Amino acid sequence: QPTSLIGAPTDIGAGARGASMGPEALRVAGLQAALESHGLQVFDRGNLSGPANPWQPPVDGYRHLPEVVEWNQRVFDAVYAELQLGHLPILLGGDHCLGLGSISAVARHCAEVGKKLRVLWLDAHADFNTSALTPSGNVHGMPVACLCGFGPEALTGLARMPGGGAALRPSQIRQIGIRSVDAGEKRFVHEQGLEVFDMRYIDEVGMRQTMQQALAGLDAHTHLHVSFDVDFLDPDIAPGVGTTVPGGPTYREAQLCMEMIADSGRLASLDIVELNPALDVRNRTAVLAVDLVESLFGKSTLMRTSP
Ligand code: ARG
Ligand code: MN
Ligand code: MN
Ligand code: MN
Repeated sequence: QPTSLIGAPTDIGAGARGASMGPEALRVAGLQAALESHGLQVFDRGNLSGPANPWQPPVDGYRHLPEVVEWNQRVFDAVYAELQLGHLPILLGGDHCLGLGSISAVARHCAEVGKKLRVLWLDAHADFNTSALTPSGNVHGMPVACLCGFGPEALTGLARMPGGGAALRPSQIRQIGIRSVDAGEKRFVHEQGLEVFDMRYIDEVGMRQTMQQALAGLDAHTHLHVSFDVDFLDPDIAPGVGTTVPGGPTYREAQLCMEMIADSGRLASLDIVELNPALDVRNRTAVLAVDLVESLFGKSTLMRTSP
């Protein structure tokens, strides 16, 4: 299946400037060549354009809501177009508010072709805030809530789902690597019954069992979307993000996570978000992200029989 790279150079939903440089840093780190080395056909669609970051304080609990809406509409259209062509879209963020546009497009596509959807959210954060709960107003802390129908209509309605409902039900989401959840957000995650494999869980049972559970129940009719927030990784190996949280997955744990997703054979769309080259060290976080994405697309040390 051909893959398409879509750059969305903005930091409109973030609390630090610089994720707007993410797409180019991933290209410089050799993303396209790395994917091609695994036999994939890759189309780089270049970068989307959108409004500049006005860097304003929150209004009614949201920073830059009109600009966030516009960027996400453009991401929706671009991702949706690739899905219709039968391509596997790879969104190069940009901050994680763009997961809204991307996953809304995936949800709409799945509804139209009659596929089940499972979303793996790899992140240090639950990104389940609302305007009432957010400590920052930064919309990159809210996309999961918006996808589940909690947020302003301009964002929750992006997918225009056939039945008119939310893009996702909480039962379609598995969060992995979580270690920073705000107080009100914590209660809301619990209330909505999100399935969260936090770092405590990974410490106790290991990445292997975590991923077996997160991937359980996939079948030939499931579209698997991975939303990879680079701050999922431990900041010792991945310093180039705006919201580092200590105690994330190690290099080996992250590799295993990606390899087990690849083994599922169901990966059908991907976001790579929150990479912030302004905070990186000689592009090492981008290089690491590319390395992990290779594993996500099936790179393995030895010839392996499929599990
Ligand atoms: N929970 C914090 C907030 O709402 C941080 C969110 C960080 N999100 C991210 N995608 N890096 O502001
Ligand atoms: Mn995060
Ligand atoms: Mn995130
Ligand atoms: Mn490599």
